[in-house]
Amino acid sequence: MHQIIERLEEKRAAARLGGGEARIVKQHQKGKLTARERIELFLDPGSFEEWDMFVEHRCVDFGMEGQKVPGDGVVTGYGTVNGRLVFVFSQDFTVFGGSLSQAHAEKICKIMDHAIKVGAPVIGLNDSGGARIQEGVDSLAGYADVFQRNVMASGVIPQISMIMGPCAGGAVYSPAMTDFIFMVQDSSYMFVTGPEVVKTVTHETVTAEELGGALTHSGKSGVSDLAFENDVEALLMLRRFVNFLPANNREKPPVWPCDDPTDRMEPSLDTLIPDDPNKPYDMKELIHKIVDEGDFFELQPNYAGNILTGFGRMQGSTVGIVANQPMVLAGCLDIDSSRKAARFVRFCDAFNIPVVTLVDVPGFLPGTSQEYGGIIKHGAKLLYAYAEATVPKVTLITRKAYGGAYDVMSSKHLRGDVNLAWPSAEIAVMGPKGAVEIIFRADSGDEEKIKARTEEYRSKFANPFVAGSRGFIDDVIMPHATRKRICRSLAMLKEKKLENPWRKHGNIPL
Ligand code: HXC
Repeated sequence: MHQIIERLEEKRAAARLGGGEARIVKQHQKGKLTARERIELFLDPGSFEEWDMFVEHRCVDFGMEGQKVPGDGVVTGYGTVNGRLVFVFSQDFTVFGGSLSQAHAEKICKIMDHAIKVGAPVIGLNDSGGARIQEGVDSLAGYADVFQRNVMASGVIPQISMIMGPCAGGAVYSPAMTDFIFMVQDSSYMFVTGPEVVKTVTHETVTAEELGGALTHSGKSGVSDLAFENDVEALLMLRRFVNFLPANNREKPPVWPCDDPTDRMEPSLDTLIPDDPNKPYDMKELIHKIVDEGDFFELQPNYAGNILTGFGRMQGSTVGIVANQPMVLAGCLDIDSSRKAARFVRFCDAFNIPVVTLVDVPGFLPGTSQEYGGIIKHGAKLLYAYAEATVPKVTLITRKAYGGAYDVMSSKHLRGDVNLAWPSAEIAVMGPKGAVEIIFRADSGDEEKIKARTEEYRSKFANPFVAGSRGFIDDVIMPHATRKRICRSLAMLKEKKLENPWRKHGNIPL
């Protein structure tokens, strides 16, 4: 027995060493933690239960039969984050560059299958050179097995990818199908084809960082939801992020103890809206002032800034917040902001997270680049997402709600449960100036007449009372009471039940 235990310890030690000391040093020199160090930092201390430590690849080509490392380049298992169960896989770059063999894929699939069965999130810490080149099609099969599970798990359990090293070629498509992608600056990148291929095919010269680094994907492409400065920050923020999410699609979001009174008044909100309707203000200020303890976890802060998305809590319970941001492009809806918000609303709906929508939207962004880019279909995504959502939906119009964008932004007509407005709300087909230019075109030469007509239109429509008279707005509220009114609405909606008609699946305008 003694010998067997010794052998077990030897095997464990070999697995823990991964690709060996020298490669671990190299990993640290790049400013990266090892796969195991990452898990240790991410999970509650002592909570990690590792599986498949002794799994080895089965490749015999290119001298691989003599090169076996227990665990085969990925550490898998489960543990807890603040006491809540999560499954995790962490690719070990020190073992064949974290490349994916069939055995490596089987390990990932095993924890995914369990996570789906027991209803707990899967978190991937990706750091991999892609398909294990020596394994050929077996590796590709392994990838496809993971992809299939990503799709089956979608909308059932939250899936999060933290990219902490290379992620290239077809390998990017597993993270792409997860709910959130986070990246680490200067050490991670994602692209379908790397800089060399790009140079050959399109003659563009571009670095890996420019092509697919964390800043590129969190600012330009919108592929990544957030970029962190280093591994430590990334993993600690990931813990904070997991706290917002329910474990699966049958659970309600977690409720955390909260000392912030739900009836807290915020007098400063009474002066948030500038007198001049064309002047911007920071919608983030409103968000911070209404959520519990001002804690707002913003997603995609550097992408499509004209719409804000992220999680906060109200009465201790998670809410998804979608808000037009007048500071960027006047808060209009365009292709990027529609896609960004639509995906977020769908995540919230899939996981029973109520959506609070804060509206100040002058309309859709006009122009050829938007039309040629397909704003019709992209804008429809957001419309579809709101219309399909059955979670509690509370909407507040702070200022402008014009045209189709009024309808889209969780209006009463898309089954908004509680629709509120501040006295400063302007709900109309379009702004006074544009409206008068069209309906009183005949008076266009007469400045006095146009001025009078504009005033007439403003006093008639640039307010919340016409919509209120139709019941499209449930109440006009004082800005300082916003937190109280939204909290009460959410409390009233707590047991909301609404089901869409049976169907195989809808056909969202992709
Ligand atoms: C096997 C690999 C590997 C791979 C790296 N290694 N990638 N082994 N298969 N895909 C090994 C290296 O041989 C090396 O082994 C160790 O990992 C570290 O690699 P280095 O090159 O020394 O590291 P670095 O300089 O940091 O460069 C990292 C890298 C580079 C940029 C990822 O290794 C690289 O370009 N690798 C190949 C990437 C690739 O083409 N993958 C296939 C993509 S196609 P030693 O023993 O020296 O430490 C794909 C298709 C997926 O993935 C399709 C899914 C549908």
